Amino acid sequence: MITDFLVIGSGVAGLRAAIELAPHGNVIVATKDIPTESSTEYAQGGVAVALSDEDEVGIHFEDTIKAGDGLCREEAVRVLVEEGPRRIYELIEWGAEFDKEGAKLSFTMEAAHSRRRILHAHGDSTGKEMERVLLNKVKSFKSVRKLPFCTVLDLIVEDGNCKGAYVLEDGETFSIYAKATVLATGGAGQVFSRTTNPAVATGDGIAIAYRAGAVLEDMEFVQFHPTALFAPSAPHFLLSEAMRGEGAILRSILREPFMKNYHQAGELAPRDVVSRAIVSEMVRTESNHVYLDLTHLKAEFIKKRFPRIYATCLQYDIDITRDLIPVSPAAHYMIGGVKTNLNGATNIPGLYAAGEAACTGVHGANRLASNSLLEGLVYGFRAGLAASRHSTEPQKGTADAEKEPAQRIVSNSPGFRAFGLLDLDEIRTALRRLMWERVGIIRCGESLGEARERLAEWRPLMGMDFDTRKGLELKNMLTTAFLITEAALERKGSVGAHYRSDFPEKGVDRQRHITISRQEAGESILSGSLQRRREI
Ligand code: SIN
Repeated sequence: MITDFLVIGSGVAGLRAAIELAPHGNVIVATKDIPTESSTEYAQGGVAVALSDEDEVGIHFEDTIKAGDGLCREEAVRVLVEEGPRRIYELIEWGAEFDKEGAKLSFTMEAAHSRRRILHAHGDSTGKEMERVLLNKVKSFKSVRKLPFCTVLDLIVEDGNCKGAYVLEDGETFSIYAKATVLATGGAGQVFSRTTNPAVATGDGIAIAYRAGAVLEDMEFVQFHPTALFAPSAPHFLLSEAMRGEGAILRSILREPFMKNYHQAGELAPRDVVSRAIVSEMVRTESNHVYLDLTHLKAEFIKKRFPRIYATCLQYDIDITRDLIPVSPAAHYMIGGVKTNLNGATNIPGLYAAGEAACTGVHGANRLASNSLLEGLVYGFRAGLAASRHSTEPQKGTADAEKEPAQRIVSNSPGFRAFGLLDLDEIRTALRRLMWERVGIIRCGESLGEARERLAEWRPLMGMDFDTRKGLELKNMLTTAFLITEAALERKGSVGAHYRSDFPEKGVDRQRHITISRQEAGESILSGSLQRRREI
């Protein structure tokens, strides 16, 4: 198949990029599930933007820099906060209905924001509303074709340039050639056994970019959300930070409020502080959860403000207007990713990245709550614009051209047969548990070393060719887990979302970014705090 532009992923960043590309040629949006199945669809709290009367872009800038704990790229943050309002007004013009108070937009509070600046829609379904509007806008372009249930195997790299991707659809593998490719595959929460992310978040973009030779950055920074539902048989459903913004209180299982013992901002302390405080309380009280308490708020307000959370918890017999909600932290957001410049360009010509799969440096070591939907809009737009200007040789056809069999043959190597006998589900479960227990909220050299050893046993799977979505996802999860673990071992200090109990101080390398890339010889190079070669 030949097209002008290939976008991989259909969340906010991918769709925003596709909209920018659409007037410039044929665009394929490839997505491994239905187009709405992305983290965007599930985003509750909202989108941070300096639009309220009491706010200024300069204050949004300062809050973002402060949360990033010394590692934000200032120019990337400036772009985010300055271009954010324009991208939001554009979305409103396209039909987005954010909640209002009278005629004015309504803004809520979240942790580490010094102003009420979080826009929300239908109470707690902000991402769903944004996805609806972006998908409608995409539909208005005849030049955009969506390819659902299409899993990417690898990127096509010829003479150092990205020329598209090898994909798997209905058990068939084929090539999609494109002048420029935008990776917007989202995050990697599924690498951990407790996560707020949907099942599709398996680090695909990060892993395929790494295999293609892209530079990855800040992979040690995984953000854990403090409050995911903790109930037998319930999913790790997110309980939005906006609940604490509206006054919800965290209590230990002894019903005692505890956040003021850990941080003067109490419930609105930075997210990493709250997650670690919850872990400490769970250890102190020998329990596996704490409680989130909204019962002092008016029931009608709760139902109106958090309708989706109210309805979901009720399915598990928890009435959030009357009951304490059992919660514990869960992996939530991949701060690191494919390193890009301010226009989404990676080190591989023709390859762009945006959204959670990318690392623009906007979030530094710790993402300010609700900055990610804004990042998806601003940097999806920028990546789309830059990709539209990237021209290689003229393409011969259109997105409707015949499928061409992939030249990359999916092999049935002896290694594949050996592991093929193993239960991939079993390895997936063991991997997720390993990452949660050894590379989770609190890490140390010993736990990370154990993770490294275990990952080394699965290393053959990282280099194996699979021809099923399940196999490909496992390979990508293993690769992403390897990258997170290596970067976490490398950073001997505690900064932002990365906390090492053996190095609780920030350390001398606090302001260095750790980058990892794979070299042609099959080695990976870690750089930043230390130059080192390591074989994988
Ligand atoms: C939330 O609603 O708590 C999530 C917001 C975010 O992760 O930015």
